[in-house]
Amino acid sequence: MRIVRDTNEMKRIAKSGIRECGFVATMGALHEGHISLIQRAAEENDNVVVSVFVNPTQFLEGEDLDRYPRREKEDIEICACAGVDILYMPQMRNIYFEDEMKILAPKRGGYILEGAGRPGHFDGVLQIVMKLLNIVSPDRAYFGKKDAQQLILIEKMVRDYFMDIEIVGCETVRDCDGLALSSRNVYLDEEQRRRALSISRALRSASELVDKGERDAKRLISAMREILQKGVDEVEYVAVTDRGLNMLEEIKEGESLILVAAKVGETRLIDNIWL
Ligand code: PAF
Repeated sequence: MRIVRDTNEMKRIAKSGIRECGFVATMGALHEGHISLIQRAAEENDNVVVSVFVNPTQFLEGEDLDRYPRREKEDIEICACAGVDILYMPQMRNIYFEDEMKILAPKRGGYILEGAGRPGHFDGVLQIVMKLLNIVSPDRAYFGKKDAQQLILIEKMVRDYFMDIEIVGCETVRDCDGLALSSRNVYLDEEQRRRALSISRALRSASELVDKGERDAKRLISAMREILQKGVDEVEYVAVTDRGLNMLEEIKEGESLILVAAKVGETRLIDNIWL
């Protein structure tokens, strides 16, 4: 595995025509969720490039940028074991410029749900993802469905800017107790982790209600809130949307999403199901 820190070098390698390239963008602190993206990329491409960069522009003032887990040594080992060909680890100074052009998230999709509580977050995500996709020039890029809104906005950016890259959405990986894997789970102590399970429990119960024929979004949301309130400290939102992030009054099977954001202690967790 080759480790590349310099952006120009990464661009040179990408230009020199690595065969079919699959790309996984990460902020490091890699876990099984990232590994499953890497494995999928390896199955579907000749080469896999992974980036590790904790992107400051997607953190708001007062968020966890400083304490976000950084584990370079472990990330390198994980990538080497997972069969990554190139690990791209840029530095702030060689990926951002002074007074640079901005990519802005769409006015509606970028400022609801996650974007309502974290205004400007998706501007930062799209800005770095646009840069990474331009630098790496992959044929396919793999993103987790756990960050559903991020995935949908990246798909939209690639479509709106006529970028020739296939965006592949990959299933959420969960611990055996149901908790969706996230780099932020390390912030949870044992008791908080137990309470955080109410998030996946609420989503599972909504999915069971839908299987039994319930379609009404309000009723599903209120059943979920009841479960959530027994575990988490604050429910930020529970929403039923279509795959374009439009709010739905009724579930349309094969076209819907239920999304949750909740706080356990100081830790903000998100999860969802695609129905
Ligand atoms: O999902 C993430 O880890 C980040 O938002 C991403 C896509 C790597 C951009 O920094």
